[in-house]
Amino acid sequence: MSEISVFVDSRGGNTKKVAEAIATEAGVSIGDINGTLPEDAKIVFLGSGTYGGKPGDAMTKFISAGNFTGRKVALFATSGGAEGAKNMMSIMADAVIQKGGTILGDYHCRGKFLLTNRGHPNQEDLENAKKFVRETLAKK
Ligand SMILES: Cc1cc2nc3c(=O)[nH]c(=O)nc-3n(C[C@H](O)[C@H](O)[C@H](O)COP(=O)(O)O)c2cc1C
Repeated sequence: MSEISVFVDSRGGNTKKVAEAIATEAGVSIGDINGTLPEDAKIVFLGSGTYGGKPGDAMTKFISAGNFTGRKVALFATSGGAEGAKNMMSIMADAVIQKGGTILGDYHCRGKFLLTNRGHPNQEDLENAKKFVRETLAKK
């Protein structure tokens, strides 16, 4: 068991790629979004695609079912629009705070959607996600 855990809600696989980069950098595997938050998870990376300006339903349920008291949460997201993820991550942040958690930071990149953002998340997006992990763990 690790004190770091990673959970992702990804319908199309874009945010899953980011989650895999994050989990690799953190040296952990991705947890089951339909499962429960591990007792010993002190630092939790939570990520989702943006769907109608919101996180996915599984992520919304995961947060509302969890007790985040004493836990630090780093958010990540992909979206079609450049601004799409911002409002969505603030919805996630509010939900985490309401469940007793604190927010360490957030990371967002574009994800391919219909004919836009082809190739995203790309290698640079994934490298930036890994950098986000290093920065997050440095300030935990
Ligand atoms: C049903 C649906 C709704 C979406 N709504 C938004 C949106 O409101 N804002 C936005 O920026 N992108 C939106 N997108 C684009 C996705 O956020 C983007 O493709 C993201 O990378 C999907 O992540 P995933 O592959 O992990 O599911 C939407 C995509 C789908 C399929």
